[in-house]
Amino acid sequence: MTKAYRIPEKDNSETKMSKKSVIFRILKYLFAYKGTLLIAAIIMVISNFLSLLGPELSGKAIDAIGENGNVDMRSVLFYAGLMVVFYAGSAALSYLLSVIMISLSKSVTYRMRKDVFEHLCDLPVGYFDKNQSGDLVSRLTYDIDTVNASLSNDLVHILSGIITVSVCAYKMFEIAPVLMLIFLVTIPALIFFSRYRVKKVRPLFSYRSAKYGFLNGYAEEMLSGQKTIRAYSKEKVMISRFDVHNDEAVEAEYNADYQGCILGPSVNFINNITLSLIGMFGVLIFIKTKGSPEGAMFTIGALSSFIQYARRFSGPINETANIVSDIQSAISAGGRIFKLLDEKCEPQNSDATEKLSESGISEEGNLEVNDITFGYTDERTVLHNIFIDAPKRKTVALVGATGCGKTSIINLLMRFYDPNSGEILIDGTNTAKAPISDVRRSFAMVLQDTWLFGGTVAENIAYGRNDATFEEIVEAAKTAKVHNFIEKLPDGYNTVIDENGSNISKGQKQLITIARAILLDTPFLILDEATSNVDSHTEALLHTAMDAAMKNKTCIIVAHRLSTIKNADTIIVMDKGRILERGSHDELLALGGSYASLYNSQFDLVSD
Ligand SMILES: Nc1ncnc2c1ncn2[C@@H]1O[C@H](COP(=O)(O)OP(=O)(O)OP(=O)(O)O)[C@@H](O)[C@H]1O
Ligand SMILES: [Mg+2]
Repeated sequence: MTKAYRIPEKDNSETKMSKKSVIFRILKYLFAYKGTLLIAAIIMVISNFLSLLGPELSGKAIDAIGENGNVDMRSVLFYAGLMVVFYAGSAALSYLLSVIMISLSKSVTYRMRKDVFEHLCDLPVGYFDKNQSGDLVSRLTYDIDTVNASLSNDLVHILSGIITVSVCAYKMFEIAPVLMLIFLVTIPALIFFSRYRVKKVRPLFSYRSAKYGFLNGYAEEMLSGQKTIRAYSKEKVMISRFDVHNDEAVEAEYNADYQGCILGPSVNFINNITLSLIGMFGVLIFIKTKGSPEGAMFTIGALSSFIQYARRFSGPINETANIVSDIQSAISAGGRIFKLLDEKCEPQNSDATEKLSESGISEEGNLEVNDITFGYTDERTVLHNIFIDAPKRKTVALVGATGCGKTSIINLLMRFYDPNSGEILIDGTNTAKAPISDVRRSFAMVLQDTWLFGGTVAENIAYGRNDATFEEIVEAAKTAKVHNFIEKLPDGYNTVIDENGSNISKGQKQLITIARAILLDTPFLILDEATSNVDSHTEALLHTAMDAAMKNKTCIIVAHRLSTIKNADTIIVMDKGRILERGSHDELLALGGSYASLYNSQFDLVSD
């Protein structure tokens, strides 16, 4: 099944966060820049006022044409000149405002992204098991961008809209309150109509995002599964399925855009009707009142100003529909960001009452697992009553069918998860009571899935010890039997491994991670032997490398190779989260239980 890549509107997993609190928290980010914000506000007010003086000036210029057609050229030029100055001033200020707002939103984006990333680093490992990494990445990028695009645009739009609407209303009221009655009919019609349209269109836009999300997910699946797709010759099937998704996505896009674009012209139509009504009634009133003893209610110039203000007045009202939907998506994006930021961090035990040793990290290397029971979820217990005794410099091998809970035990040792009951003791100290970082620093670990980062080979080996000298790195690589291979790389130790380490083989990756563990030189070593097959030469290298890494350490290994298991001091045979048997190779063979039958059938053990 293709997983949904990103469907913002249908994010039901999010517990509802109130709109108010999201807006409040977004604004809190903004208010970190109070000074800039104040300057921006002042500039905005001035720029708006300057541009709003225009219609009044143009009215005055018109009125400078006398009743009998005599033009007072000086006045006309004066008002026209003022208009140019004011409009130019307003344009310059609004340019300045954009620059300020963009740089403000740049700072906020940076801050938010930094906060989210730092928070991600503090979250417990379990969080990443529960959440799709694609989704987390889109919060870090897409959602933050959405919020900030809205911050820099919508905020200015709303505030200047408020200024425009109030100033225009005031000016129009000054000129001819009667004419404003027309708005009583047209504005409700406008609002009603746009709300109706927006309601109709919004689901189409969410449907469109959902379809695109699906398309992305499908493409992602196709890209990551290239080898399998080709091996099974499924290209045609993939293409025809893609055609279906592509078709749906384009159709959804078309529908949303088609329905969306009806709104603009219709709103314009209503506006133009308003303006014509104002013009018509305005002129009628002018003619009617002109002959009266009090004189005309307003001049022709004033009427022209009125019409211009009326045009400006409805602008922000038209935009409301767009802004509202923009803000809605900013709020839903903000909700996703703050939901992540509200996730509880991994407890660091900074108030830890006990220490593993004077220096913090284990010195002796004694490990004891005492009656541990554990489940990733409340519904299912994965480990039942696990006891392990791994005294100093002894090797314990965990053996058992896939899914029996070997990696889970390692997760608990490293405190990636905490057990439901029972305790883990290092040198007699309960690790739950010691600082979490000290516990982790006591272990070197080679995981089932190797992880190399985009950097040089040397940097990758020195990952756990920034202070390692080049000689130490080479020494570790030699012990891990990977030195010769590294030497043959184009730039030796300075060869850059790309992001997913695709330019070196699986076996070589494993050797490099073993070198990394060797360099760390901790009292404990955890090895979760990779099940993936490597060629027999690399296999032999891996074997020697692992032996070297295990020297003088207390080791917990998950082993599949018979020779590694055989040499362990204690072998623990597991089945469905329980320990079935324990003892040395010979003892277990003598016992004649499940290890013996496993050994005799060679079942599930990769022999060497
Ligand atoms: N993050 C997780 N969330 C929920 N359940 C999990 C998680 N990781 C593992 N499990 C479940 O816990 C059980 C034990 O898994 P574990 O990874 O410990 O097996 P394993 O013995 O290491 O298997 P393998 O030999 O294939 O590596 C499995 O049934 C698995 O489905
Ligand atoms: Mg495993």
